[in-house]
Amino acid sequence: MTPKNGSLCLFAGNSNPDLARKIAEYLNMSLCGAVVKRFSDGEIQIEIDENVRTKDVFVIQSTCDPVNDNLVELLLMVDALKRASARRITAVIPYYGYARQDKKVAPRVPISAKLVADLLTTAGATRVITMDLHAGQIQGFFNIPVDNLYAAPVLLDYIKANFNKDLVIVSPDAGGVERARAFAKRLNAGLAIVDKRRSAPNKAQAMAVIGDVKDKIVIIQDDMIDTAGTLTEAVNAIVERGAREVHACCAHPVLSGPAVDRINASPITSIVCTDTIPLNEKAATCNKIKVLSISNLVGEAIIRSYTGDSVTSLFV
Ligand code: R5P
Repeated sequence: MTPKNGSLCLFAGNSNPDLARKIAEYLNMSLCGAVVKRFSDGEIQIEIDENVRTKDVFVIQSTCDPVNDNLVELLLMVDALKRASARRITAVIPYYGYARQDKKVAPRVPISAKLVADLLTTAGATRVITMDLHAGQIQGFFNIPVDNLYAAPVLLDYIKANFNKDLVIVSPDAGGVERARAFAKRLNAGLAIVDKRRSAPNKAQAMAVIGDVKDKIVIIQDDMIDTAGTLTEAVNAIVERGAREVHACCAHPVLSGPAVDRINASPITSIVCTDTIPLNEKAATCNKIKVLSISNLVGEAIIRSYTGDSVTSLFV
């Protein structure tokens, strides 16, 4: 009889097959089989193809566009694994959608990031591995352990290899200052902040730049670029103040709606992002965008989580 208790199984939803394949390659293992089908009215049906009884299961799924389908697919997979008696189920969510709705910013609005946390826990997730959460405190929305990984090691290596002097890291809004400051410190670069106002979701306006960007090589650092309104507004404000070149980096290339048109029309030179989300068709044609893979980082976090080694020490 082969002892199978606690052996590691890797599953993936359909949100980011390339990333899942790369993570599996890093772990030198195959993805386990699961079939995702549709009922004729669009409901999702899941069938797990392998015995997972007493196994330590990891399910890789970014809740990116189509956000609701990918989220439900993840929830149903976790539920199926729970009912199939998996010992532990870790939802590996490189991009955690709905994270921006993390507090009541107006009367009678939901806290969607909390609801998603509750849904995952109710479905049966016993741990979560995610990356660059929009707000770190979302970890507290879960009553199960959450490892919030950072794309920083991958992005910083790239920046160090491609930029050296006169560098200023810019946060495109007040909320991102802590992240930008951490980058500036590691790169020994200056720090500046754009004062952004929002009149409505996805409508950003840059009001002022705090800090010196004149004649500098600027890298705007953000957790995500969605419609690129925040980014291109910040670029314009920085260019007006005399920056020599403007680039950007982010973990999550959401790039929805007018994003790619805005980026193409903007004086920004380049954007480096990661593959937490696959580039959509239009973004894949944009030669200003470069994608770096975080697969090894996530793979390493999975293996450490499995063996009980420190995950935090990946980032010190
Ligand atoms: C906002 O707080 C986030 O960090 C991003 O700056 C924002 O979500 C980007 O959205 P958009 O690209 O639509 O302006």
